[in-house]
Amino acid sequence: MTRPAARSWQLAALAAALAIAAFAAGTREARAEYGDVVMNAFSTEAGMRPVVFPHWFHRIRFRCKVCHGDLGIKFQAGGNQINMLKIIDGQFCGACHDGGMAWAVENCNLCHTGTPNLPTQVHESTIQKLIAPGQAKTAPAAKK
Ligand code: HEC
Ligand code: HEC
Ligand code: HEC
Repeated sequence: MTRPAARSWQLAALAAALAIAAFAAGTREARAEYGDVVMNAFSTEAGMRPVVFPHWFHRIRFRCKVCHGDLGIKFQAGGNQINMLKIIDGQFCGACHDGGMAWAVENCNLCHTGTPNLPTQVHESTIQKLIAPGQAKTAPAAKK
C-alpha cells in the first residue's frame, strides 16, 4: 500500500506551508495577527479618537496577500503612514471601505473608536477592550 508514503508527503507539504506562513509573518509571534492594531500617528493630534483596526476580523475574511501583497501594507503597526487623504484616494483601508466591498469612509466613528490617547500598538485583544463606547473608559494597560 502507498498509504504511509502518501501521509509523509502530506506532512512534508504541511511543514512547508507552515514554514512559508512563518516567513511571511516575519519574526512576529504567530498570535499577533489575531489582535487589534491601534493607529495613532495623527488622530489624537487632529482631535480624533485613535483608530482601532481589528486585524483578526479582517484576517478571517481575507488572505494576508490581499492587504500585505496587493495593497502593499507593510507588516508593522504604524509603519504605513496611513492618513485620510490616502484612504479617500482608495489606498489602504480605502481600497475596501468605499461603500462597495465595505461601508464607506463617512462612517468616521466605526474606525475612530479608540480610547483617547491610546498609543500606536499591537494589542492581542478582542476589540471590546480598546473601544470607548461614546465615553472614555479606563484606558487598558498598553502591552508594549
Ligand atoms: C484587510 C487587510 C489585512 C489582512 C487581510 C491582513 N492584514 Fe496584517 N495588517 C494590516 C494592517 C492595516 C496592519 C497595520 C499597518 C499599520 O499600522 O500601518 C497590519 C499589520 C500586520 C502586522 C504587524 C503588526 C503585528 O500584528 O505584529 C503583521 C505581522 C501582520 N499584519 C501579519 C498579517 C498576516 C500574517 C496576515 C494573514 C494571516 C494578515 N496580516 C492579514 C492589514 C491586513
Ligand atoms: C481588503 C478589504 C479591506 C481593507 C483593506 C480594510 N477593510 Fe475593514 N472591513 C472590510 C470588510 C469586508 C468589513 C466588513 C464590512 C461589513 O460588515 O459590512 C470590514 C469591517 C471593518 C470594521 C468593523 C469590524 C466589526 O467588528 O464590524 C472596522 C473597524 C474596519 N473594517 C476598519 C478598517 C481599517 C481601519 C482599515 C485600514 C487600516 C480597514 N478596515 C481595511 C474590508 C476591508
Ligand atoms: C475605514 C477607516 C476609517 C474611517 C471610516 C475614517 N477614518 Fe480617519 N483615519 C483612519 C486611519 C487608519 C487614520 C490614520 C490613523 C493614525 O495613525 O492616527 C485616520 C486618520 C484621520 C485623521 C488624522 C489626520 C489625517 O488627515 O489623516 C483625521 C482628522 C481623521 N482620520 C478624520 C476622519 C473623519 C472626519 C472621518 C469621517 C468623515 C474618518 N476619519 C473616517 C481610518 C478611518
